[in-house]
Amino acid sequence: MKLFTDEIVKRLEKLLEMDASDIESLLQTPTDTTMGDYSLPCFKLAKTLRKAPPLIAQELADNIEKGPPFEKIEAVKGYLNFFVARGALAETVLTQVLEQGARYGESDAGKGKAVVMDYSSPNIAKPLGIHHIRGTMIGNALYRIFKVLGYTPVGLNYLGDWGTQFGQLMVSYKRRESELSRGDITVKELLDLYVEFHNESDEERLDDEARAWFKKLEDGDPEAVSLWEKFREESLKEFQRVYDRLGVTFDSYVGESGFIEQSQDVIRRMKEAGVAVESEGAMVVDLEQYDMPPCLLQKKDGTTLYATRDIAAAEYRRETYKFDQLLYVVGSQQKLHFRQVFKVLELIGHTWAQRCHHVDFGMLSFTGGTFSTRRGKILFLEDVLDRAVELAREIIDEKNPTLENKDEVAEMVGVGAVIFGDIKHRRNKDIVFDWDTALNFDGETGPYLQYSCVRLGGILRKYGKKLPTTADLSLLTADEERTLITLLGDFPRQIRRAAEQYEPSIVASYLLDLAGTFNTFYQKHRVISDDADLTAARLLLVSALRTVIRKGLDLLGIKCPERM
Ligand code: ARG
Repeated sequence: MKLFTDEIVKRLEKLLEMDASDIESLLQTPTDTTMGDYSLPCFKLAKTLRKAPPLIAQELADNIEKGPPFEKIEAVKGYLNFFVARGALAETVLTQVLEQGARYGESDAGKGKAVVMDYSSPNIAKPLGIHHIRGTMIGNALYRIFKVLGYTPVGLNYLGDWGTQFGQLMVSYKRRESELSRGDITVKELLDLYVEFHNESDEERLDDEARAWFKKLEDGDPEAVSLWEKFREESLKEFQRVYDRLGVTFDSYVGESGFIEQSQDVIRRMKEAGVAVESEGAMVVDLEQYDMPPCLLQKKDGTTLYATRDIAAAEYRRETYKFDQLLYVVGSQQKLHFRQVFKVLELIGHTWAQRCHHVDFGMLSFTGGTFSTRRGKILFLEDVLDRAVELAREIIDEKNPTLENKDEVAEMVGVGAVIFGDIKHRRNKDIVFDWDTALNFDGETGPYLQYSCVRLGGILRKYGKKLPTTADLSLLTADEERTLITLLGDFPRQIRRAAEQYEPSIVASYLLDLAGTFNTFYQKHRVISDDADLTAARLLLVSALRTVIRKGLDLLGIKCPERM
C-alpha cells in the first residue's frame, strides 16, 4: 500500500540522510506477520553509518515519530518493523480493492517499455504435444502480467517452420504423393510421415535426399516451396484451434522462415567483422574462450542453421520493437543454444544482447516417461485437454447434476486444471503431471481455486441484497481475517515479483494461500449472521477476495465459471 510506505519514508527521511526513493527501495513486507507489515532492514545502512545494524534499528525506533496509522514501531535485531493499525489497514486495502475492482493490482510502472516475448513457438508439421503446454502458458501468463504492469507486451509465435526436417518430410511425402495429394493433409498425417522417415533413416541415401530437398527449399524451388506452404498452412489451422481453447493469442506468427535472407546477411557481416571463420567448409563462431562449443552458422552446402536464424530474428526484433526486454520462453534443453546466440550478438557489437533473457523451464512428463516425437510417442495436447474436460464433466455430473451449461463449465474446469497443474510449479522444475491431483477440487489445483471463487460468489448471492458500500472494518479481527487483509494488500507486489522473476508460479502460490486462508476462515465463521455490522464488514471482505482470485486466475490464463 503506497500510502503506508509514503508515510514510513516521510518519517524516516527526517532521521536518515538518504533520498526518499532509496529508502523506499529498502523497505520490505515481511511474510511473517509477527515482524510487522513493513520492515526496514538496517544492514545496508551499517556501512555508511558505521554502526552495527541492531544499534541502528534501535536508534531509529527510539527517535522515529510514532502514532497512527501505526500502532507499533519496534526494533528487532537488525530490522525496524512497522505495524499498521488493523482498522486502518483493512480500510485502506479493502477500499482500494473495491474501488479499483478488476483493475486492482495494475500499475503503469512499465509505461513506454516494450517486452517482446517469444513463446509456444512449436515446430510445424507436428501436432502440439503436451510438453507445449509449458512454454505456451508460461508465456501467456507473462504476457498478461507485464500488460497489467503497464508494459507493452508483444507476443511472438516464432514457428519452427524451416530446417532440414522439412527436407525429410518432403522425401516421405513424395513417396506417397499419389495417395496424399488428393485432399488436405492433416498434421497427424504429417507426423506419420516424419516418423516413417526416422524409422528408415538408417539408410544414408534418404538423408542425402532430405538435405537435397531442404537445399531446394532454401533456393526457392517452386515444388519445394509449395509443399512447404501446404505443411505450414495445415499446421497453423490446427494450432489455432488449440490456442483458442487455451485463450492464448499472439501478435505475430513470423517464424524461422521469415529470416532466411537476413541470415545470409548475418553470415556476410560476421565474416567481414572477423567474428565468423571458415572451418571445414562451414562457417562457425569460435566460442572456446567463453567455454562453449563453436556456434555453427552455415553448413557446407550453404544452408543456414537454427542459430543463424535466431540471430537474424533478434536483430529484426530490436529494430522493429525497440524492446526493453526480449524474453525467450523456451525449455532448458536449449540453454546452450541461447547462451551461444546471446554471446554472438554481443560479439557483433549489439549491447542490447544484455536485454535478451532465456526464460527457461523444465520438462513435463506423465507417468510413463517423457515423450519424443521422433519415436512417435507423442501425447497430443488436444487429447489431454479432451480427457481433462471429460473427467471434469463426470465430476460435475456427480456433484452438481442440475447445473446449467455443464459443457461450458466442464471446458473451463478441465482446461483450467491442465493449465494450473503446470503453472503452479516453479518453471525451472521438471514436473510430473498427475490426473488425480490436477482435477481434485480440494487440492492445490485450478478447480479448487475456481470452486473457491464460485463459493465466494455464492455467499454474495445468498445475501441477496445490494452490497453495503461502507462498513466498520475494524470489526475484522479474527486471525484469518487479518491474514486475508494483509494478503489482499500484497497482491500488487506479488504481481511485480512474478514479472521480475519471470515466474507466474508466484501468482499461483499466492492464490492458493489466499483461497486456503479463506477456506479455513469459512470453516470457523459465518459471513452472514444476525450481527448486521459484522455481516457488512465480512461481505466487503468476501467481495474483495472474489475480485482478487478472479483477477489472479485471469493473469494465469484461467477462466472462472459463475457456478460449478
Ligand atoms: N521451435 C523451437 C522448438 O520447438 C522453439 C523455438 C524457440 N524460440 C527461438 N527463438 N529459438 O524447439
